[in-house]
Amino acid sequence: MAEQGSGRLKGRRIVVTGAARGMGLATAEIFAAEGAKLALCDRDEQAVRANADRLGQFGAGCDVADEADVARFCEQAEQAMGGVDGLINAAGILIMKPMLETSLAEWQRVLDVNLTGTMLMCKTLAPAMQRAGGGTMVNIASIGGLRPGPGSGAYSVSKAGVIMLSNSLASELGPEIRVNTVCPGTIPTDMVTDLLASSRERLTETPALKRLGRAEDVVKAMLFLTSDDSSYVTGDTLTVDGGWAYR
Ligand SMILES: NC(=O)c1ccc[n+]([C@@H]2O[C@H](COP(=O)([O-])OP(=O)(O)OC[C@H]3O[C@@H](n4cnc5c(N)ncnc54)[C@H](O)[C@@H]3O)[C@@H](O)[C@H]2O)c1
Repeated sequence: MAEQGSGRLKGRRIVVTGAARGMGLATAEIFAAEGAKLALCDRDEQAVRANADRLGQFGAGCDVADEADVARFCEQAEQAMGGVDGLINAAGILIMKPMLETSLAEWQRVLDVNLTGTMLMCKTLAPAMQRAGGGTMVNIASIGGLRPGPGSGAYSVSKAGVIMLSNSLASELGPEIRVNTVCPGTIPTDMVTDLLASSRERLTETPALKRLGRAEDVVKAMLFLTSDDSSYVTGDTLTVDGGWAYR
């Protein structure tokens, strides 16, 4: 793909999870336009490979909750790009259920994908970034990880865990590796189709900015946290929610 951005990621080699669609795909498109070399993964292998081919990047199937799968993909990614110095963890799942109706299997799957999957990617790629002389990790949590809302307990717990995971890693991996978190508000992707069908008006009216977010709003925050523009920022949580979380 021809470069259309300002080249803020020129020479950077970045892994993006959850890149079959939604914010992971938007990240791949914008980061490629900013000059990055990318390795994309998703559990939807067909879609992520098609996106990678279209963008002229490496792509492969991977379940981020599966340790062996993560190890295999990360090795391929390092080889394909000649090193790794960036990571965006966008893979995630949402189960909207009150806590008392959430089965143990549902609870475990949400924590496995959202929290353990993020941890596995960070843990597996940190040595590659150390070999490369440093890097950046950005993990997508959610405003659900900052304050509770009815009907998404397991998801909120997993995202609160992502925030503390990121901060713990930031304290351990500096000065070579910076680790930050973004907390999006409601972004109309496939993940929230059902939620928007029932609550679009409330979700649009609650933020101070009186609109839903766009995937691009979140990607631009992650571009800042991945680029040298944020070279003194680590262990931070950036909310991209139109002013929802603290109202
Ligand atoms: N959309 C929102 O309103 C919103 C708000 C806050 C946070 N988030 C978070 O943003 C991230 C991206 O979400 P989105 O809105 O783009 O959702 P999405 O459903 O459009 O995309 C998520 C992607 O993750 C992939 N994925 C799911 N489980 C996986 C696994 N085990 N291994 C590999 N890939 C897997 C899916 O196949 C999909 O391509 C998620 O972590 C989500 O929790 C979303």
